[in-house]
Amino acid sequence: MAEIFDYKMFPILFVDDERDATETFRQQFQDEFLLILTNSPEEGLEIVRREKPAVVIADQKMPTLTGAQFLEIVRKEHPETFRILLTAYSDIAAIIEAVNKGEIYRYFAKPYNVAEMEITLKRSLETYKIARERDRLYREKIEIFQKLSRTNRLAGLGHLAEGMAHEIRNPLVAIKTFFDLLPEKKEDYEFMTRFAEIARKEVHRIAKLLDELTRFAEPPKPCLMEVDLNEIARSVIGLVETEAKSHKVDIRSNLGEDFSLVVLDPEQIKQVLLNIVLNGLQAMSPGGLLEIETRRGIRPNEIQIIISDSGAGIPSENMEAIFNPFFTTKAPNQGVGLGLSIAHQIIQEHKGSIDVESRIHEGTKFIVTLPKNPLQASGLGEHGV
Ligand SMILES: Nc1ncnc2c1ncn2[C@@H]1O[C@H](COP(=O)(O)OP(=O)(O)O)[C@@H](O)[C@H]1O
Ligand SMILES: [Mg+2]
Repeated sequence: MAEIFDYKMFPILFVDDERDATETFRQQFQDEFLLILTNSPEEGLEIVRREKPAVVIADQKMPTLTGAQFLEIVRKEHPETFRILLTAYSDIAAIIEAVNKGEIYRYFAKPYNVAEMEITLKRSLETYKIARERDRLYREKIEIFQKLSRTNRLAGLGHLAEGMAHEIRNPLVAIKTFFDLLPEKKEDYEFMTRFAEIARKEVHRIAKLLDELTRFAEPPKPCLMEVDLNEIARSVIGLVETEAKSHKVDIRSNLGEDFSLVVLDPEQIKQVLLNIVLNGLQAMSPGGLLEIETRRGIRPNEIQIIISDSGAGIPSENMEAIFNPFFTTKAPNQGVGLGLSIAHQIIQEHKGSIDVESRIHEGTKFIVTLPKNPLQASGLGEHGV
């Protein structure tokens, strides 16, 4: 026996400004279908938003909105609905155009044939159900995909734990050696000063690493406020000026127009810029030039901060990896490989993005793009990290 289809599973909306018309429709179809009736197209649109009916039937001739206009809005709100237009013969040309444009599924000339209307409603509901079934299967596939990508993140965590173990093991060896030797060396002045100092520094290093790591695992939400972007750029330059001088590196800034009303977390963005600027300084030899520029983004309501150096450049095989936690090409006391991953995370929280361009032996350019106000932004796309 064929499965009995429940035609009251999804609602059918009927809109006609004439009370007689809605009343007749009710009497004809209320036993078999789940009906919602209204005499006002405005209320009809609210019902569409709220109830998401499977079928919407509208009369062409209504005082505030034609049926075709009404159904066009319905299509935008809820494209899956079957849209049916009721009309007098005189409107036929306009109707055919609406059908051809895909705005409506079919039309009925008044007075419609009740049996024909019934068949159409049934077929529409059946098709609607099949489409929903298809959507459900599609959603299930997406969920499986999302689960898989979570698993990949877990694999990333394994990598993170490995990096962390490595970073902690080295200082621990130094500290352990200090304590192993302590009983026999405690009278040794050099040991007690120099080696105790090394051990102390190594303890500090582990503490700092754990600090960064907790920040990384649980990044604080940005504390957004209206600030002057150029002011932030200047304060970052101030922080590294001494270091740049000792490296014999010049810093040049090219701060654009008035960016005094940008919404961001100033501490976090300073941290981002500092991480990028320090990388630039470390990549250069004496005589190098570091440039900081602020400018409008390509799209409206976007700003960009560009930091370029004339340093060693990044080999193309490392380009993908530089944002990964613990990826570093530096000696252990120079960096642990968290700077760019933290920067990336902060910029993502701000709905921005970071791009990199680099040429070996010529230099590297980091382009940070931010919305002027992340609260009004839909997201600028993601870096593939
Ligand atoms: N401006 C740059 N020039 C050359 N290499 C860079 C630059 N910025 C980043 N890198 C590369 O990216 C790696 C990761 O950077 P980062 O996450 O800040 O960690 P760290 O600086 O501790 O190594 C660096 O080790 C380096 O290889
Ligand atoms: Mg760094």
